[in-house]
Amino acid sequence: MGKTVIITSAKGGSGKTTITASLGLSLANMGKKVCLVDLCFTARSLDMLLSLQDQAVFDIADLAEGTCSPKDAVAVQEKLNLTLLPAPAASAEISGEELKKVFKVLSYKYDYVIADLNDPYSEAVRMLLESADSIVLLSIMGDEAARSTERLAGYLREATSSSLSLAVNKFDRRAQKLLAVTPQAQSEYIDIPLIGIIPYDESVLYAYWSHSLPDTYDEQVLRAVDEMADNLINGKSLNQKKKRRLPWNFLKAD
Ligand SMILES: Nc1ncnc2c1ncn2[C@@H]1O[C@H](COP(=O)(O)OP(=O)(O)OP(=O)(O)O)[C@@H](O)[C@H]1O
Ligand SMILES: [Mg+2]
Repeated sequence: MGKTVIITSAKGGSGKTTITASLGLSLANMGKKVCLVDLCFTARSLDMLLSLQDQAVFDIADLAEGTCSPKDAVAVQEKLNLTLLPAPAASAEISGEELKKVFKVLSYKYDYVIADLNDPYSEAVRMLLESADSIVLLSIMGDEAARSTERLAGYLREATSSSLSLAVNKFDRRAQKLLAVTPQAQSEYIDIPLIGIIPYDESVLYAYWSHSLPDTYDEQVLRAVDEMADNLINGKSLNQKKKRRLPWNFLKAD
């Protein structure tokens, strides 16, 4: 059975959608079968980021209701070898039970099911948080972001026993000197392993504006996401120099 990974953050605009797509790409490049799931019901965007907006016929609500098969529910980005289960275009009610069932069905078919979740506090995803194999808290540089990530970490510790990890996006070396909280310090403070530091790079923004796929991101971004993917699936982190295995090395798919 495949592994379920949720990418979420305390703040909007942290790069959840960007990192979900590029993490998926990284795992697909490793030969894994990957399905991305858009759980941003009020502002779906993964379909556009993957240039799949014209192909996406069905969505997660259709699959949850049983109006289509898992195969018909998804759209395939052939160039990147990535599959997407889109969020509904209109508002839809999906229960926690239904969501959990959708992820279970997908995990029989794919090595990794990666969800882009913009509202981790929503009651509707509570059951999903409980059943996920791994939850990645995505933060950005800045003391305000660090504070809201700390709050989210506290909430997730209560809500789930899933393995938690931290990744910091839009990293800028210059800010490191100005801020009270560095990614490493935050990781140690909230006691959640740091698995990725992704640099701020204009190529990401340019791809967003020009509707180019994530494989056009600059090499330094793609390398950082590859490292994050490697840490995620092998239970490693950036915290320790020694490659000590963390309890969540079970994330490695067979
Ligand atoms: N590493 C990066 N370097 C530069 N720009 C980035 C980086 N990551 C994301 N961005 C840009 O930041 C903006 C927000 O990214 P994205 O849409 O992925 O965030 P999000 O967390 O999914 O937002 P929302 O909360 O609205 O769903 C986009 O314009 C994206 O191109
Ligand atoms: Mg988003």
